[in-house]
Order: sequence, then structure tokens, then C-alpha cells
Amino acid sequence: KKVLPLKGKKALITAGPTREPIDPVRYLSNHSSGKQGFAIAAALAELGAEVTLISGPVHLPCPIGVNRIDIETAEEMMGAVQDALPSDVFISVAAVADWRPAECASLKVKKDKQTDGPPPLMLIENPDILKTVSHMEQGRPELVIGFAAETNDVVENARAKRLRKECDWIVANDVSGDVMGGDHNVMILVTADTETEWPRLDKQAAARKLAAKISEALTGH
Ligand code: C5P
Repeated sequence: KKVLPLKGKKALITAGPTREPIDPVRYLSNHSSGKQGFAIAAALAELGAEVTLISGPVHLPCPIGVNRIDIETAEEMMGAVQDALPSDVFISVAAVADWRPAECASLKVKKDKQTDGPPPLMLIENPDILKTVSHMEQGRPELVIGFAAETNDVVENARAKRLRKECDWIVANDVSGDVMGGDHNVMILVTADTETEWPRLDKQAAARKLAAKISEALTGH
């Protein structure tokens, strides 16, 4: 008999990059593949959770049993998260663009019209989705988990980020190697009073480790 410890629990996950338009044909983005977030969504669904996955543009199939919502910009991701709440656990895996162009030109910016050299690109700050959910006064998920991509002082930076974002857990990723876009990950789970380092695992196995911890925290098993 299959044990489904997370049956009746809701999980909300963000994954992938966001895409911030400059004009109808250009955008700012990053190299996030979405692999780790999709693997976490799959692992939680396997444990019986009702999973909503809010994803930026990625080249991945939707995991079985997962409700996927596709968005492009950080603002759309923020709106989709708010629409999908409440949830028992929120896991912010997405590589949200910190900034977006202050304005999106309604027509393609033409090179031959730029008489004063390249056009200036003014940026403004995007909403911090993880921080917004962490700070919710009503209906805050019981467990709010952020990710931290670090190249140095991994645990120290993760501890500081956990306090700054006011989330419950931070999963620190050592991205000094081939993690970004790759198939493996080294994760360190930082909670208020514990630090757990897992060995180098493929992203599915790493996701199952995290899903087991989430299950333990939400249900006691
Ligand atoms: O501050 P930093 O980007 O390093 O924090 C990373 C964590 O914050 C990740 O969990 C990421 O999903 C989340 N984040 C967010 N919204 C942003 C920026 C980061 O939810 N605008």
C-alpha cells in the first residue's frame, strides 16, 4: 500500500526564471532551468500533496498530478501566487528577476532611430515574492521556504537570508560548480535551529529529501 503522508495538504511552488519585457521582441531574464522546482513539485505530489506549480518559461513537462500555471514576469508570478493561496507550504524556487525595465516600449525599439547611441535602459525593482508571503499577516502558509544560490560562505549567507526574508527555512545551494542548469545539486537546509547538508545528489533525489522534511514538519511523519 502506498503511503501518502501529505494527503489533504496543499503545496505552492514557484520555479524557473521570469522574463521582463523591454519591448515586444526583447526581454531580460536568467539561466534558471526550472529543474529543481519541478522536481520538488513532483516529489510532493508523490507524497499525496495537492500541488500548484507556478512556472516561468522553461522547457520541462508538467509533473504528473501537478497543477501548473505558466507566467512570464515577476509581477505575474506575484499575482498567480496570491491567487493560488492559501497553502500549507510555500516553496520559492524561482529565479525571480530582481529588476525590470521601468517601461516596456509598445513598439520595437529601432536601431536606426537611435541618433544618440544605444538607448538607455532604466530599471525598477520587482516585488520580492518570498518576502511578501513570509510577511503575510493573515493566511500565511504554515511553512515558508526560500532558496539561496551561493558561491561562498554558503551557510552564513543562508542564515542571514533566512532572517532577512523572515521565511522558516532556507535551502542553500552551492552554485560554485555546475549546479545552474545541471542535473545535480548540493543542498544545505537551514532552519531556525538546524543545519542539514546533503551530499551531491541528482535533482530528483534532492527533491525527495526536501519533500520528506516538509512532510515531517507538516504531519509529524
Ligand atoms: O534575495 P535573493 O534573490 O538571493 O533570494 C532568493 C530567494 O528569494 C529565492 O527563494 C527566490 O525564489 C526568492 N525571490 C523572490 N522574489 C524576488 C527575488 C527572490 O521570491 N523578487
